[in-house]
Amino acid sequence: TGFTALDYGFVNTASTMSDITYIDGDQGILRYRGYPIEQLVKGNASFLEIAWLLIYGELPTADQLGEFDDKIRHHTLLHEDLKNFFTAMPAGAHPMAVLSSAVAALSTYYENDSDPDNPEHVDLTNIRLLAKLPVIAAYAHKKSIGQAFLYPDNKLSYVENFLRLNFGNMAEPYEIDPVMAKALERLLILHEDHEQNASTSTVRLVGSTGADQFASIAAGIQALAGPLHGGANEAVLNMLAQIRDSGQGVKRFVEKVKNKEDGVKLMGFGHRVYKNYDPRAKLVKESADEVLAALGVHDPLLDLAKELEEIALEDDYFKERRLYPNVDFYTGVIYKAMGFPTRVFTVLFAIGRLPGWLAHWREQNLDPRNKIGRPQQLYTGSPAREYRGA
Ligand code: CMC
Repeated sequence: TGFTALDYGFVNTASTMSDITYIDGDQGILRYRGYPIEQLVKGNASFLEIAWLLIYGELPTADQLGEFDDKIRHHTLLHEDLKNFFTAMPAGAHPMAVLSSAVAALSTYYENDSDPDNPEHVDLTNIRLLAKLPVIAAYAHKKSIGQAFLYPDNKLSYVENFLRLNFGNMAEPYEIDPVMAKALERLLILHEDHEQNASTSTVRLVGSTGADQFASIAAGIQALAGPLHGGANEAVLNMLAQIRDSGQGVKRFVEKVKNKEDGVKLMGFGHRVYKNYDPRAKLVKESADEVLAALGVHDPLLDLAKELEEIALEDDYFKERRLYPNVDFYTGVIYKAMGFPTRVFTVLFAIGRLPGWLAHWREQNLDPRNKIGRPQQLYTGSPAREYRGA
């Protein structure tokens, strides 16, 4: 019955209406609930303030934000048993796999109060996930470098706590570097939402079945890990290091990309929606110089990235296809300067994106038009044939 349109990659098909994020890909515009990303990042917004904005639709009052922040600080502890989970994973496990598995495992502790049909449970699960994801992420990092886990310190802000959990140790007090904290807060804010990207669509699809936020977010994390999506920030740094180590030079690498040799792509370039400079990439590029200077780091990989961008933007291959740097192109250089290992980069993206995922899950959950997601197919297989038995 009816007409089924074929649309590989959902290039032309909207899966939902949404009030959360607006993107104009031709003009390079990104707004959260109507607020331009530039104002949010350059203003003194906090990550949790924007999380509230995304989830509930308006900026929080001081009281609302205070209460939200306080609740999140008081839900940071993981059940002690969950810590065993990290030791059960191989030392070399990718932190994204650990993160997603631990979020799925988290659901086993809260089965009785994570009912998707109960609004109080939905709010509580939002708090739990916002509170615990950074702790899980830091433990995945600590585990990968063989260091002891620290307990969260509820006196610290969201981002400060996260930095201490990653870089502090048992032996001495950890001093927060305000430059690093501010820079990380800004980076996380500009990752908070990006409408119907692959991971958010995954969260919505899983949520459309009536699954709770734990299940939906665990799936979203897995989708984000792919190199064409959030995993690109890790891939960019590996690509830059490879160009440096091969000694082949940037021009030769660009030729390889253009000739599609060995399927090589310029990671951190191109976007399904932006056919102009990604507004997030513009902000990240600006802060890369500032942050590296403030941290006293000179990284030749940043020079290499700039050279690569300059050559690509002048080249007809990239011009014709309207390929520009995306958010992942410069973030890795900053994360590296902060001291995060390359394999942790996409975990930082996941922490940033969590409020967006939760906002979309909730928007869909409250919408009476929500139906289980069930794409169609056009069957191209064998016509009916007979099985005659073994
Ligand atoms: N390097 C070289 N060529 C590229 C690139 C690239 N990074 N991106 C697209 N192209 C080419 C592609 O080969 C195709 O050329 P042709 O018409 O000759 O076959 C043309 O440009 C159109 O590309 P597409 O693959 O049809 O575009 P898409 O919208 O399906 O894919 C993308 C978007 C982001 C997956 C792709 O641009 C890409 O693979 N980029 C590299 C990975 C990356 O940086 N991902 C992060 C995306 S932003 C943050 C996030 O979502 O997490």
